Amino acid sequence: DRRKKIAIVGGGNWGCAIACIVGRTVKAQDHMFQPIVSMWCRDSRKSGDTSPSIADVINCTHENPKYLPGRRIPDNVIATSSLLNACESADILILVVPHQGISKICSELKGKLRKDAYAVSLTKGISSIFENNVIKMQLISDGIEESLGIECSVLMGANLAGEVADGKFCEATIGCKSLVNGEELKNLFATPNFRIRVTADFEAVELCGALKNIVACAAGFADGLGWAYNVKSAIIRLGLLETKKFVEYFYPSSIGHTYFESCGVADLITTCYGGRNRRVAEAFIKSDKQLHEVEHALLKGQSAQGPPTARDVFEMLKNHKLAENFPIFTSVHKVFSGEHGAKELYDSLRNHPEYE
Ligand code: 13P
Repeated sequence: DRRKKIAIVGGGNWGCAIACIVGRTVKAQDHMFQPIVSMWCRDSRKSGDTSPSIADVINCTHENPKYLPGRRIPDNVIATSSLLNACESADILILVVPHQGISKICSELKGKLRKDAYAVSLTKGISSIFENNVIKMQLISDGIEESLGIECSVLMGANLAGEVADGKFCEATIGCKSLVNGEELKNLFATPNFRIRVTADFEAVELCGALKNIVACAAGFADGLGWAYNVKSAIIRLGLLETKKFVEYFYPSSIGHTYFESCGVADLITTCYGGRNRRVAEAFIKSDKQLHEVEHALLKGQSAQGPPTARDVFEMLKNHKLAENFPIFTSVHKVFSGEHGAKELYDSLRNHPEYE
């Protein structure tokens, strides 16, 4: 069978939503793709827990009641708790786990995949590596390529998972490493209501997806403190400019149009209004609870990627003596870490280097 076999690595909120898309597209294009999609779901049961695994629940009910309740996952998506069973014969791996989980998954899959397989990462975050005692930034897709030895593209965009699973119209951007694979991924993901554009500017695509989570936290603080609409709009605009400046500093070869793609301005807006990061940041600034308590209360086992991304980005900027040039990124980290309060965030907007 020369048709490509697809594996989804991750059965959370976004993993299940993308399974709703891919389950349909492979069936509709069964000359190109094998119609059965395997989906690895982390088995989070503690020892002694006799309840069924989430993979068994999905295979029986075609629903993930914990992370994507009320949405039907297509019958041709088969869940498994075995990472190796899901991935070892796959031609295309869709990696969609929170960024804290990526390195463990890669180490388990290392050397076990088809040599001609390739990956696409849907994970919105960045990783950092230690090199000669300094923290250096690494794109998640580059880390995956390095540890698995296979090409890894990215898909990012304004894609609140519930809306995608409901089949509502939205757009996404594929940042590809090779155009042939980029076009194949477009065929794999595109539906009449999930519209895709492909670009080779993968660094900007991936960083837009990661950094907007920080900006969405600033938007959440603004909402929590009752700041005016104009302030939130300024946060969104200045946050996009900081994103562009960050990409241009670390990846100077990146081209300039990507901010107008779905992964840029559109993902930023949707997350600043309808995302979990916004919600967590709003609740955090209004209460005296710890971040993990707020997450626990609001997200039912999911996590917000903005706070850890803000921390990693802050460390990187500090190393490069650039923190002051990125006041929103810096301030969001400092509010979460308790180093300063909302007043300093407000001041950092008023005194933003964009006005100099
Ligand atoms: P949250 O993680 O803040 O919900 O962001 C959703 C998102 O990335 C939409 O594209």
